[in-house]
Amino acid sequence: MKKKIVVLTGAGMSAESGISTFRDSNGLWENHDIMEVASPEGWQNNPALVLDFYNKRRAQLKEVKPNRGHEILVELEQQFEVQIITQNVDNLHERAGNTNILHLHGELVKVRGEFSENESMYWEDDIYIGDKNNKGEQLRPDIVWFGEAVPAIDKAIPIMQQTDIVIIIGTSLQVYPAAGLMHYAKSNVPVYYIDPNPASIYDLPNQLEVLAMSASVGLEKIQLQLQ
Ligand SMILES: NC(=O)c1ccc[n+]([C@@H]2O[C@H](COP(=O)([O-])OP(=O)(O)OC[C@H]3O[C@@H](n4cnc5c(N)ncnc54)[C@H](O)[C@@H]3O)[C@@H](O)[C@H]2O)c1
Repeated sequence: MKKKIVVLTGAGMSAESGISTFRDSNGLWENHDIMEVASPEGWQNNPALVLDFYNKRRAQLKEVKPNRGHEILVELEQQFEVQIITQNVDNLHERAGNTNILHLHGELVKVRGEFSENESMYWEDDIYIGDKNNKGEQLRPDIVWFGEAVPAIDKAIPIMQQTDIVIIIGTSLQVYPAAGLMHYAKSNVPVYYIDPNPASIYDLPNQLEVLAMSASVGLEKIQLQLQ
């Protein structure tokens, strides 16, 4: 039976594809205060601005492609059962070709009615004020905003409890509950953390290897190590 690897990815995973992270730019996401474009309050204050922001992010997906790091995660499937758990809302893991991907914070290519969090639909185009679902609710991106529940965490925890290896990539580990997920791994499971500017990790009983480098370079090293 193949060993299981859980890969927890954050915005840094997509940095080499040209998608910016937000904590690298003073807490701004593409020049916006994060609460303006990624919170229920921001949506209430200015829904047109929020829709426009995500329309631009969705359009950007058509101009970027998976990077070498994404490709290595696909190659690892030859030897391991790989489960990606991503905080990213882009679709680069899917486009690279990984089989098992869980999005913790939603997806840019999905929309839902503003009051129907469990009914999302695939959507590649722009969304405008006045675009509605079949219940007459305004459409919004199917993204988990700050202050909203993270329902996918209930699937992520048991996956983490059963894994043999954990690889964490490109995350500042400041957004919970995602940042706490590694603590569900069994204590004999090795944890690798790739990030050029890694956060401090405390109170983890596991063997921890920090690779302070980009996702693609760090993954090349881990791929060799795991062979
Ligand atoms: N691509 C996306 O989908 C995207 C982009 C920006 C923000 N977000 C959202 O914002 C939240 C941000 O939290 P977060 O912790 O994921 O991101 P973050 O912006 O807080 O942190 C990004 C991390 O990536 C690291 N990094 C930068 N370049 C890297 C590289 N080449 N290789 C590896 N790591 C690199 C940084 O050092 C930093 O620690 C997430 O919930 C996510 O949904 C998503």
